Amino acid sequence: MPTDSNNIASARAHSNIAFIKYWGNRNHRLRLPANASLSMNLSELHTTTTVEWLPTLDADTLAINGAAASQAALDRVSAHLDVIRRRLGIRASARVSSTNNFPMGAGIASSASAFAALTLAAVAAGRANLRERELSTLARMGSGSAARSIPPAFVEWHAGDTHESSYAEAFVHRDHWALADVVAVVSRRHKQTGSTAGHREADSSVLQSARVAGADQRLADIKAAIKSRDFGAFAEIVEEDSNLMHAVMMTSKPPLFYWDPLSLRVMQAVRDWRLGDGLRVCYTLDAGPNVHCICEAADAAAVVAKLRELSPDIEILQSGVGRGACLMPAKAV
Ligand code: PMV
Repeated sequence: MPTDSNNIASARAHSNIAFIKYWGNRNHRLRLPANASLSMNLSELHTTTTVEWLPTLDADTLAINGAAASQAALDRVSAHLDVIRRRLGIRASARVSSTNNFPMGAGIASSASAFAALTLAAVAAGRANLRERELSTLARMGSGSAARSIPPAFVEWHAGDTHESSYAEAFVHRDHWALADVVAVVSRRHKQTGSTAGHREADSSVLQSARVAGADQRLADIKAAIKSRDFGAFAEIVEEDSNLMHAVMMTSKPPLFYWDPLSLRVMQAVRDWRLGDGLRVCYTLDAGPNVHCICEAADAAAVVAKLRELSPDIEILQSGVGRGACLMPAKAV
């Protein structure tokens, strides 16, 4: 481990939205998922993180958007840095500073972009040059969905059954299909149960085994729909997969209800717009009440207009297809 001032690096990673969801682990410690999943990186929603390994520092430090982070956030980041320290043979502590360009607390998950950016910055600051596949496995240890924010664009996460075989890789190129995510932010409420705890509950639902049993088929079907840009087929699979995950959540012990009444109104409206009015849009929800309305970029303005008409209480974020995690000019923190 070098001790000069070059042990610093900055990296940026994008958030992602899953079309085939990850919910539940076969191994919680390694975050080996119950099923393979598929997502799209979000160009407009990203985290930029700087890591500096400092042998003179007593303990890791973490600032998020310019303010000292909570102890819980620091503990989770430190545990992830331990994984990277072990892999690279680093003994130093790290000074970490992270900024999200999307509003924190808007109910938009930041763990995927956060742990992907942290992983790449920490590895680069340790002067290691790891391949994308290994970066993805390392990011997965911090947050499962972070594995999918390392490669670019449309990404498949192979479930695998070992640390090495559970990684994500690009499925098709960014230019293949100009999809957009119009996020209907229906609530800024902080989620009561985070996904790490939620994954541990998944097996308590009698529906989880049925959801997992069909996941590979839905994955194959959605890959075919994406390859042929068949929006109608794509839309039905995306909505079914989201509904299946939420059915598992709602039937877990204790049950997890992530939807708000307004979430359901948006979901019903999206189906009406597609099946009634012919607007090519579908919905998907993560572990929160906000509704991701997926459409082609050319239809995004029409979807925004429909959402504004539906309710004045909806805030809107928009994004296209994002790149993979990348290094940025390092900034001293
Ligand atoms: O990476 P985690 O542990 O935050 O899990 C993410 C789970 C979902 O967002 C609900 C689904 C997914 O595949 O992204």
